Amino acid sequence: MAGSSGKGSVVADELTKVYNGKVRAVDGVSFTVSPGEVYGFLGPNGAGKTTTVAMLTAGLGATSGHATVDGVDVLRHPEEVKRRIGIVFQEMTSDGDLTGRENLELAAALYGVPRTEVASRVRGLLERMQVADAADRLAKTYSGGMRRRLELAVGTVHSPGVLFLDEPTLGLDPQGRAGFWKYVQELRREHGMTVFVTTHYLEEADGMCDRIAIIDHGHIVASGTPTELKDRLGGDIVTIRPIQSDHDVAPLLRTVPGVLSVAAQDGNYRVKCTNGEALVPALVDACARSQVGLAGVSLKRPSLDEVFLEFTGREFREDEGVSATDRAVMLGRVQNQLGGRR
Ligand SMILES: Nc1ncnc2c1ncn2[C@@H]1O[C@H](COP(=O)(O)OP(=O)(O)O)[C@@H](O)[C@H]1O
Ligand SMILES: [Mg+2]
Repeated sequence: MAGSSGKGSVVADELTKVYNGKVRAVDGVSFTVSPGEVYGFLGPNGAGKTTTVAMLTAGLGATSGHATVDGVDVLRHPEEVKRRIGIVFQEMTSDGDLTGRENLELAAALYGVPRTEVASRVRGLLERMQVADAADRLAKTYSGGMRRRLELAVGTVHSPGVLFLDEPTLGLDPQGRAGFWKYVQELRREHGMTVFVTTHYLEEADGMCDRIAIIDHGHIVASGTPTELKDRLGGDIVTIRPIQSDHDVAPLLRTVPGVLSVAAQDGNYRVKCTNGEALVPALVDACARSQVGLAGVSLKRPSLDEVFLEFTGREFREDEGVSATDRAVMLGRVQNQLGGRR
């Protein structure tokens, strides 16, 4: 694919990791992330998300397969890849005994940000992440949300072309998660960076990602835009509620192009279709033309929960936390990442 493995892209080709010669944690995973995209890796605990990120960020060698990040071969030039990317993971990498500003200055030095640019870069990020007022307080005194935003600032101080986020919002409340994403989106708009994010929060994947791969037992079981994935389940349900229930409007609704089926239920009509949003105006028009007054119209789209169930045969359980192996892999990577630069 010409151009798809260049700047800002992430390409995995049959990427595989077998731990200890027996645990196939990631098993032949292939995908292409285009420059500027937010690409989500969605899967339950143990699916292989962290292992994939670790291989893509040159923290862990692949058993087989290839990967390029920002146009650079990860296996052949791991140090070059590390310089070009930013990483934020669930574990804290900022130092609690340093202030926010000191953490950023240290990261800027480690990443080789030109000296003349450090002060303005640090000031800009502190303001952007709304931690400027706390810039000279020790990071360990920050709230959970502030600390995550500081992590994001630390991970992006060198304006990376590709940002990797491994379950970056794990443990944050919905408000904290929304806040974190607002800053990711802002950085993305400013720098046009590509974002590769793993999550087991379905609503996060749905709302924040341009495209998603669902990973389960080391395999990608489905991928596409959130809308495409939901469309594959065979449709939306538009519920039409006429004011008067004595007249059967099902035959009328069936004449509207795009309607797959109509079922009458307690004076309501459940209309199945592939694109409910586009169909609602046509259904409303058809009713108006036949003098059918409407008391209500609602639209229900299938959720990613149902997508996950469809493709894996299992319910998605969101209550799982980060595993002990996750922690070991991540910490190893932090040491690896920082060790090479000190
Ligand atoms: N260092 C390791 N040694 C052996 N097995 C591991 C190691 N790290 C992870 N695993 C196993 O690989 C699988 C995938 O783990 P991981 O990539 O951490 O998944 P996720 O991040 O999706 O929760 C799991 O079965 C996990 O137990
Ligand atoms: Mg993980």
